[in-house]
Amino acid sequence: MAVLLPGGAGFIGSHTAVELLNAGEEIVIIDNFSNSKSQVLEAIRKITGKDFKFYEMNYMDREKLEKVFKENEINAVMNFAGYKAVGESVKKPIEYYTNNVSGALVLLDVMKKYNCKKFIFSSSATVYGDPETIPITEECKTGETTNPYGTSKLFIEQILKDLYKSDNTWDICILRYFNPIGAHESGLIGEEPQGVPNNLMPYIVRVANGTLKELSVFGNDYNTPDGTGVRDYIHVVDLAKGHVKALEKLNKEGKGLYIYNLGTGKGYSVLDMVKAFEKATGKKVPYKIAPRRVGDIATCYADPKKAKEELGWVAEKTLEDMCLDSWNYIEH
Ligand code: UFG
Repeated sequence: MAVLLPGGAGFIGSHTAVELLNAGEEIVIIDNFSNSKSQVLEAIRKITGKDFKFYEMNYMDREKLEKVFKENEINAVMNFAGYKAVGESVKKPIEYYTNNVSGALVLLDVMKKYNCKKFIFSSSATVYGDPETIPITEECKTGETTNPYGTSKLFIEQILKDLYKSDNTWDICILRYFNPIGAHESGLIGEEPQGVPNNLMPYIVRVANGTLKELSVFGNDYNTPDGTGVRDYIHVVDLAKGHVKALEKLNKEGKGLYIYNLGTGKGYSVLDMVKAFEKATGKKVPYKIAPRRVGDIATCYADPKKAKEELGWVAEKTLEDMCLDSWNYIEH
């Protein structure tokens, strides 16, 4: 019995692969390295001392996907093969909807054919749009996403709800990630954005090591304590462990559609992050105040109570761990 990880060589997929192997699960990874590198597979093996099967393929390739299900006894799927760059999604909506939504449909249809009905879905806090109340609970309204990436997550959530309604023998868990940062403490796997990074932490580490000149802080006139945007940054290893807990729940209790926020419940501003990074690493992060970025909101952080109560999961790593591990990975 194995857990299938499409996109398992990517940032969140690779960290989850490690935590699943550490928890004694068997895994099968499929990836086409569209946003990852083949060396990641060796790194996962090195960190865990365990082996797994790998298929180099696009997860939307139905014929190849069926072969994976025929050759392995897959009892659950965690899908990490989604495209995730917000800005790019605005320029390439067809590619984003095709890969994320059509891809998920192919995957779910093949799962159904092979009677594999446990699915853990990588959703995002972006489905809450501009939240009405903070901290954000799972009951908060979803919708009004501002880009095709976010809308693709919303669409897939709806597809999963409809699927469960049609056949309640599915066990589905939707995990809404807040802002994953950090890297495995070994420094062997981490986040590797292509080109100039869009997200805050990858940008900060590249300013700190001199690859980029200075950070642009997108707006200091938000209604937040220091005027800069507030987010719930979560260590990727904590996030990965949340998937293991979700799988445990589906394996033990099953039969349901569950939704959980995976966040720490703490909000930090952009300037908090710059200060925390400088303190943790001793590196300077020069910055300038720039105009707001289109589509950004002022504040976004989770109420993580439901995941604590129902999954027995809490984020354990500190902001210092997140900064140090992000830095360690890039300097490795
Ligand atoms: N920021 C800067 N300068 C930068 C980059 C970011 O000031 O160079 C600020 C942003 O304005 C925001 C904060 O840092 O206030 C965090 O920005 P990120 O781009 O790191 O993250 P976002 O919160 O915009 O988006 C992330 C993920 C999305 C996901 C969303 C969910 O990238 O995939 O969280 O809320 F949808």
